[in-house]
Amino acid sequence: MASYFDKVTHAAAFVRARLGSGAPRVAIVLGSGLGAAADAVTHPIHIPYAEIPGFPQSTVEGHSGRLVAGLLGGVPVLILQGRVHYYEGYTPAEVTFPMRVLGALGIRAVILTNAAGGIAEGLRIGQLVALSDHINFMGWNPLTGPNEPRFACIPTAGLRFFDMTEAYSKPLRALARQAAAEEGFNLAEGIYLATPGPSFETPAEIRAFRTLGATLVGMSTVPETIVARHMGIEVLGISCVTNLAAGLGATQLSHQEVFEAGRKVEQRLARLLTILAPRAAAATVSAAPDTQP
Ligand code: HPA
Repeated sequence: MASYFDKVTHAAAFVRARLGSGAPRVAIVLGSGLGAAADAVTHPIHIPYAEIPGFPQSTVEGHSGRLVAGLLGGVPVLILQGRVHYYEGYTPAEVTFPMRVLGALGIRAVILTNAAGGIAEGLRIGQLVALSDHINFMGWNPLTGPNEPRFACIPTAGLRFFDMTEAYSKPLRALARQAAAEEGFNLAEGIYLATPGPSFETPAEIRAFRTLGATLVGMSTVPETIVARHMGIEVLGISCVTNLAAGLGATQLSHQEVFEAGRKVEQRLARLLTILAPRAAAATVSAAPDTQP
């Protein structure tokens, strides 16, 4: 039976053959209702996840489930339009398979977007927040099991034990803040706590998470960040506050509310990502030595 590493390599070879020329260095993962940036891509090539060997497929409304390659802001990018989640029944290895494939394709920086509930006071629905850190409350780590150093994208990565003090790149955050300012809005910073889902939290849980230091809550991103950092990929996390967390708003939480709030802010996010993509590409290429041929 093919190993996990071989499956990732096989999927990456499939995608590479479909893409032809142009090696993207930047990838973007678009969360619930946040798919508009994929429409801003010029000269797009669409590959449904169902066609990529080994790729898990999203079962959630709002996650379309395809890879989009093309130019964003003039630079080649890979966009994962839709992601899979642990709550769908996928294993940690399956949830992080797409991120491993991005690493195998030579991606050096990834922008992870998500819909999140706002915990901190002052957060507004529709606000975009750059992640400064996370709290892994999923109850598992995607790197459990034998270490696979061959996943490393840079010579210093692929370690069994590695540093997470700056999991979310400070330089990429600074670029994002600058791009947001040019677009006329302030990009706040926050700490994202990931739960396994799929139920939303109780008000008591949200009070506990606030005490723990969380400013945002969601059901994704953290496993992808851990795996990206294992490979040496730079990570920028951007949450869209789609609702106030349980017990903080006047209404009950629903996926519909989350989805519709995402829809309202996705154009703004698309503009931000279009400005950011070429700058992230330039910053990453100059910062990271290349191990790919
Ligand atoms: N909780 C968990 N995940 C979420 C939320 C929330 O309030 N909003 C969007 N994703």
